[in-house]
Amino acid sequence: MTGLYAHIPFCSVKCFYCDFAAYSGQGKLADRYLAALEAEAALHPAIAPETLYVGGGTPSELTAPQIKDLFARLRRAYPGPRFKESTFEGNPESLDEEKLAVLAGAGVTRLSIGLQTADDALLPAVGRHHTAADFKEKFLAARRAGIPAISVDLMYGLPGQTLESLRATLDFVLALDPEHISLYGLQVEDRTLFAKRGVREDSDLGREMFELALERLAAAGLEHYEISNFAKPGRRSAHNINYWVRGDYVGLGCSAASYYDGTRSSNEARLKPYVEGVEAGRRDLSESEKPAGRDATGEEALLGLRLVEGFEPSANLRMAFAPEWASLKSRGLAREKNGLWMLTREGIFLGNEAFRLFVPPFDREEILA
Ligand SMILES: C[S@@+](CC[C@H](N)C(=O)[O-])C[C@H]1O[C@@H](n2cnc3c(N)ncnc32)[C@H](O)[C@@H]1O
Ligand code: SF4
Repeated sequence: MTGLYAHIPFCSVKCFYCDFAAYSGQGKLADRYLAALEAEAALHPAIAPETLYVGGGTPSELTAPQIKDLFARLRRAYPGPRFKESTFEGNPESLDEEKLAVLAGAGVTRLSIGLQTADDALLPAVGRHHTAADFKEKFLAARRAGIPAISVDLMYGLPGQTLESLRATLDFVLALDPEHISLYGLQVEDRTLFAKRGVREDSDLGREMFELALERLAAAGLEHYEISNFAKPGRRSAHNINYWVRGDYVGLGCSAASYYDGTRSSNEARLKPYVEGVEAGRRDLSESEKPAGRDATGEEALLGLRLVEGFEPSANLRMAFAPEWASLKSRGLAREKNGLWMLTREGIFLGNEAFRLFVPPFDREEILA
């Protein structure tokens, strides 16, 4: 399968934890940026994508006419059949009824709304500019607009967040009956305000929070299908699954990643240099590599093990990483069932322990010890 991603890098403000290519105060560049997305499409090979994901940044920062323009441009660039799945990310402070109507009219099948936490004391402390009530209002408006599925982005391990606060957030969100939830543990990224402030990840509390969430989400009928993703039956994100099974995708926009012809590449992340490059007929890259040998084989496990129900390893992977696999199994972090490789519950909590065996420099010390 082939997917199409379009990155919209505009945000009203920068959240204190966020290291994505997301810029505030740059809305004046939006029209030029949308034209650049269409122009960039012509710099990639012709593809017939089945899924579309408009992510960010905050795509709902675009005005309603700009959202219409974005979809018209994507349609012109990819005139094949309608996307089977079309996702659009939005935040409570910038979604409104007019934009939701445009999204429904453009065939958006999934709206992903960023909430992070429903704790009104915590939201401003992580740099968010909306309340839980704002979120609920926009969630219900999206339902009225007829968008078929809604996903909610949540975070745990935020500084000052308690188990009680997370429990209340989950109850609040589950009462709205969303089709999908993404739940991310805070990662303190360099170059963020949290890093400058010396915020630390608390793995013990983080684990308790994740356990609590697993229990609550399962009880609500949401299947845990990827480390950070939960869905009602039949409502998994086809676009994202395609990443984990190493399907092809084209990514348009600053910082957007692509994978086709066996090559992984990422676009220039800075907004203005990206636009200027495309306007000059170039696709400037921040990186490009064609994984081969052990790198490519390790990547198969790195991505496949994110799928909770596992993946079928190639003969090559079984052979090249036999000692690593044996070590993960003996430590109770992974198991094999019906020919599929998967992490155990313990392995899911300690995912990074498992994953680093499959990426360069393929540290084997621990295995051989
Ligand atoms: C890049 S944002 C784009 C969507 C939208 N702008 C929003 O704020 O929800 C996608 C999601 O990534 C997650 N995220 C961003 N930075 C993170 C970090 N440092 N650690 C964990 N999750 C993070 C948040 O849950 C966020 O909703
Ligand atoms: S989390 Fe979302 S809203 Fe906040 S800065 Fe990042 S992309 Fe923008």
